[in-house]
Amino acid sequence: MNSSVRNFLYDHPEHYESAYPEPNEETPEMCRRMFARFLAEPPSSILDVGCGTGRDLAVLSRDCPDCCGVDYLGTMIQYARSKHPALHFQVDDMRTVRLQRCFGAILCMGSAFMYALSNEEVDQVLDTFAIHARSGTLLVLDINNAASYLGGGSFKDQTEYAVDLARIMREGI
Ligand SMILES: C[S@@+](CC[C@H](N)C(=O)[O-])C[C@H]1O[C@@H](n2cnc3c(N)ncnc32)[C@H](O)[C@@H]1O
Repeated sequence: MNSSVRNFLYDHPEHYESAYPEPNEETPEMCRRMFARFLAEPPSSILDVGCGTGRDLAVLSRDCPDCCGVDYLGTMIQYARSKHPALHFQVDDMRTVRLQRCFGAILCMGSAFMYALSNEEVDQVLDTFAIHARSGTLLVLDINNAASYLGGGSFKDQTEYAVDLARIMREGI
């Protein structure tokens, strides 16, 4: 899995949020709706697996200060810590991380789970979720619906994005 966790935005996390803007905090808002729908009360602790820049966790921590983010990449964790020093961020692997505690909600957003590329890795990550859960813990798992790729001709072997750094710098977006 190591070499596949590599792209420009992971090497330059300061541009990640510009490339994937969320002006209305859509992802944490969706998580809040899931909490309201499936939990008797809001979670008192949240684990974000594959937390990236820590953006979602930072928003959710306004209601839940006991937040912990784990990501494979030191670049992402370093950036997350610099932006959100009050939160706990840790470089670790979702297949093997063991934090010796449980959480009220576990998130795995933005396709992070799809870095588990084999059945064995999927099992390992599911074990990680289970080990950090207790009875009643809510897992919010964001994955693409594979069915959407079947027969529609929308599957691409390769995708290219262009990031206009000059514009980002100029407009501060
Ligand atoms: C597309 S980003 C999503 C980041 C964040 N969840 C978000 O929605 O903005 C996927 C993240 O998964 C992380 N990741 C990939 N493999 C991982 C692993 N084995 N353990 C932990 N994190 C991993 C990457 O480093 C990256 O930060």
